[in-house]
Amino acid sequence: MEHVGIIERYRQFLPVTEKTPVVTLREGNTPLLPAKNLAKALGVDSSYEIYLKCEGLNPTGSFKDRGMTVAVSKAVEEKSKAIMCASTGNTSASAAAYAAQAGIQCIVLIPEGNIALGKLSQALMHGAKVIAVEGNFDDALTLVKEATTRHPITLVNSINPYRIEGQKTGAFEIADELGDAPDFQFMPVGNAGNISAYWKGYKEYNDRGLCINLPKMMGFQAEGASPIVKGKPIKNPETIATAIRIGNPASWKSAEKARDESAGVIDSVTDQEILEAYKMVAKTEGVFCEPASAASIAGLKKYIVKGTLEKRVIKLRIVCILTGHGLKDPERAIQTIEKPETIQPTLPALEKILSSTI
Ligand code: F0G
Repeated sequence: MEHVGIIERYRQFLPVTEKTPVVTLREGNTPLLPAKNLAKALGVDSSYEIYLKCEGLNPTGSFKDRGMTVAVSKAVEEKSKAIMCASTGNTSASAAAYAAQAGIQCIVLIPEGNIALGKLSQALMHGAKVIAVEGNFDDALTLVKEATTRHPITLVNSINPYRIEGQKTGAFEIADELGDAPDFQFMPVGNAGNISAYWKGYKEYNDRGLCINLPKMMGFQAEGASPIVKGKPIKNPETIATAIRIGNPASWKSAEKARDESAGVIDSVTDQEILEAYKMVAKTEGVFCEPASAASIAGLKKYIVKGTLEKRVIKLRIVCILTGHGLKDPERAIQTIEKPETIQPTLPALEKILSSTI
């Protein structure tokens, strides 16, 4: 079946009418990959069914495209000529791409020196006006909120409710594919929009009888940027997972609501745990995600080790959301892994290495 993007696929669940011009790059419909090798590496038996929702396969390489197709379509419907966002990188890449597709202007504010190169290159290539702020994401978001109240520019951060509406379709896809919602969903938490969106999605499906189960929402912040876990904003958040380097999440309250209503958790994982999970999923499953995304795997590992995942006789279905593609941040990968060996172009030199490899 031809995939036409999330607005057409889930139109009845979204705030669009026949008058809404659909701005799409055919986002969504991302793989839900059974991760048997990862389960083995994590040391769990076959009663644990682990799936990876590979959101890095969206058009701009992250889950942001689900929300952006709706936000930009509505902006165009409302005759807006420009959109604006603060971003740790992925939102800006997505906003820039959808603005290019729509033929409108895009302005993005990024924390100077703290966004992955792939993301910056996307925003620039798609023709956005990129402004680096001498501050962090939270400072940039404050500026964007102020500027968009003073100027006729549409804010497309996830405080724009259309973003959340689009992002909830991730939950629909998972429930459609599994035939029900999973038992647990593990995911990274940054500005906390996505965990709120998924929970909204699952609840709407449940209300309409399209899934019987509701998952426990398991959200993970990086330890150095874990305001929800600590219960207070962090002034200078720090983590190698730059996508979630956020000290005062905009959707803080709704993320807590998702956690509490689902009987889940919002916890933290260290940078070390994130990097180990990042390497583990790449090596065992052939799935390259960005560091922030690996927080979901790190969180899963933490809870398996703790032994707190409810054990049932029947299968326990667990979905980890891999929010962005590893190629967004190749520099981090190169720094994390051993450098390639260099040899003279001779067969003996090659065979010397082969003898110690195979
Ligand atoms: N994973 C990735 C790859 C992200 O880019 C983000 C957020 C998150 C997880 C966290 O999602 O904010 O909804 O809790 N990135 C935003 C951005 C902040 O500007 O690209 P969240």
